[in-house]
Amino acid sequence: MKFSQRSNYLTSSPLYIFAKKVKELELKGGKIISLGLGEPYNDTPENIKKAGIEAIKANKTHYNPAAGSLELRKALGERHGVSSDRVLVSSGAKPFLGSILWSLIDSGDVLYMAEPFYPPFLQIAQSCGAKVVLIETKKTGFQLTAESLESSMAGNGHERKNSCMIINSPNNPTGITYDPNELAKIVKICKENNTTIISDECYSNFSPDKDFSLRKFDDDIIVINSLSKSHAMTGWRIGYAICPSELAVVAGRFLENYIGCPSSISDAAAIVALESQPLNDFTEQRKIVHDWLDANGISYSPSTGGIFIFPDFSSVMARKGIENSFDLATYFLEQAGVAMTPGIAFGENFDAHLRISYCIETEKLKEALNKMETAI
Ligand SMILES: Cc1ncc(COP(=O)(O)O)c(C=O)c1O
Repeated sequence: MKFSQRSNYLTSSPLYIFAKKVKELELKGGKIISLGLGEPYNDTPENIKKAGIEAIKANKTHYNPAAGSLELRKALGERHGVSSDRVLVSSGAKPFLGSILWSLIDSGDVLYMAEPFYPPFLQIAQSCGAKVVLIETKKTGFQLTAESLESSMAGNGHERKNSCMIINSPNNPTGITYDPNELAKIVKICKENNTTIISDECYSNFSPDKDFSLRKFDDDIIVINSLSKSHAMTGWRIGYAICPSELAVVAGRFLENYIGCPSSISDAAAIVALESQPLNDFTEQRKIVHDWLDANGISYSPSTGGIFIFPDFSSVMARKGIENSFDLATYFLEQAGVAMTPGIAFGENFDAHLRISYCIETEKLKEALNKMETAI
């Protein structure tokens, strides 16, 4: 069969290859503690589950509008201070990576983003034809700075046409929350350079300032968010975008044609979720991991938000003669029964890193770290 060139960009990420390896081991009876998951351990709160059950009983099981029910869009609009025609709802945040990049990017257009990055950013952008320019953040402890953006912009020829930038704070995989002063400067630079910002704020409630949104600096900034992590609703598939109304029309056509409405049952449950408190930040777990890394001499940039941290295990690799992050993750899996995600999944410069997801019960987290300590 002949496949399209664009399909080549959607490769099987090391993230999924490794997850498959973990599953195989579990099926063979291995007892694995996973620090690899991209979701909080919490179950969906009872009142939200009840709202889903009630929605089924009330036969809210038919098609909704492709951009989600007006009631949910109004509730989200109120929360973000915009009218409902600037809100789109879909099956999680992911459809917005696709629909928004598809709406904005022509072949050869430049798209800026920090490295390391959430893998779908790169894959979707490239499959839309973007020329992706990665911005270095390692030297600044994974902080995105105005200076590094400016040097990435120099010489890209993007001035001749519009470009886009994805910003993700709190960040997956680093757990870094970007400095608001730096973000203000970045927004200004983007504005001066016709660069449209797409701000992925899926972890915004796990941060020191839960109400912070990049839209604070500019009303035109496109925000992608979701109830997946904030309300322990990963499987319900409800995400949303806040954007200029003209983009809502175009991206809305993508949703209509490619996806259809988000589940009407989840839509009804999301209305109740928005009236409930989001999950608390994982500050205790974060501290436990920081203390463990300190005690074991492993280099890291402290996580300040989100659910991840991205330490550099070079010292352990040198000691154990391990050459790459996939082998390192395999080592911890086999020797300690702990699953983490190989750094290479988040960019080729991160093959000495592992992404640790610390949003599990504290006792389990401590048990995992103890086992890892024995293995190193
Ligand atoms: C940065 C980021 N954006 C988007 C998503 C996708 O979220 P959802 O499950 O709501 O589609 C994730 C999920 O891990 C993520 O980490």
